[in-house]
Amino acid sequence: MTETGETIETPPAIVAMLNQKGGVGKTTLTIHVAGGLADRGLDVLVVDLAPEGALTSILGYDEAYSDLDREVSLHELLLDPSRTGDVDDLVLEGAEFDLLPANERMVDRTGGELNGEPRARERLKMVLDELGAGYDVILVDNMPSINVLTDNTLVASDGVLIPAYAEALSVQGLDRLQKQIDSVREYFGAVRILGIVANRVEHNKQADAMLDQLHSEFEDGLGIPVFDVYKRVDLQRTIAAQERSIFAAEEIESDMAEVISEVASLVDNELVEKSQ
Ligand SMILES: Nc1ncnc2c1ncn2[C@@H]1O[C@H](COP(=O)(O)OP(=O)(O)O)[C@@H](O)[C@H]1O
Ligand SMILES: [Mg+2]
Repeated sequence: MTETGETIETPPAIVAMLNQKGGVGKTTLTIHVAGGLADRGLDVLVVDLAPEGALTSILGYDEAYSDLDREVSLHELLLDPSRTGDVDDLVLEGAEFDLLPANERMVDRTGGELNGEPRARERLKMVLDELGAGYDVILVDNMPSINVLTDNTLVASDGVLIPAYAEALSVQGLDRLQKQIDSVREYFGAVRILGIVANRVEHNKQADAMLDQLHSEFEDGLGIPVFDVYKRVDLQRTIAAQERSIFAAEEIESDMAEVISEVASLVDNELVEKSQ
């Protein structure tokens, strides 16, 4: 409360799940980390900024994704954020967290239509300034690419989580991602790499060696925490069969809950609590 009595709402912490590689677990981890944040009692919004809409679909919202009749979807909002105040039925409410769904219109269109527009990289930020009000934290899932849409995510975000494979090629790819993050920083200021999530780790010597390399390069070398999430069919199953995270799953106890809780706790401690 301020002296005049009105409540000042703290803006949500915005976190990007980012890697230009596909199949590293961005979508899967978005759901489980969102579940972990909700489990901590936070109000969470998940944004599906990937035009293919995998996140929207696996959470059971195929209809919202392929609804071409609705006048305003995320596509229209990104092209004209001033329309955000006029839509009140776009965000879908879920038991664990809410979802701002992707729409099929975004495929092959949103990025291209945004390119060359003024303030093309600031659109998501403008949309979330309005739609995100009232949430404690927003997680943005992304397409595997470095383009105007992922730039939008970076401009809107306070922090980035990077899911990565613990294999040599993936580690090299992190250089490009770092360059993208640096280029956005130059124009839009702080966005921090919160952590690397080594994902789908297998139990063998090669994987152990890559994990060692990731931990020494990022954690010891740069002070960026690295989390080890092992390959577990339960991480797929709770989503595919129950449309929810391991934290709300029925009859599944995942041994990965602890490490994913640590990721959620990092986001909470570094971004959410500090802003309140
Ligand atoms: N830790 C994991 N254990 C087992 N399967 C996983 C794990 N993480 C992701 N997957 C599976 O790997 C595939 C790719 O993951 P996904 O989240 O779609 O990656 P991205 O969004 O980066 O393309 C999906 O089938 C997903 O269910
Ligand atoms: Mg994905």
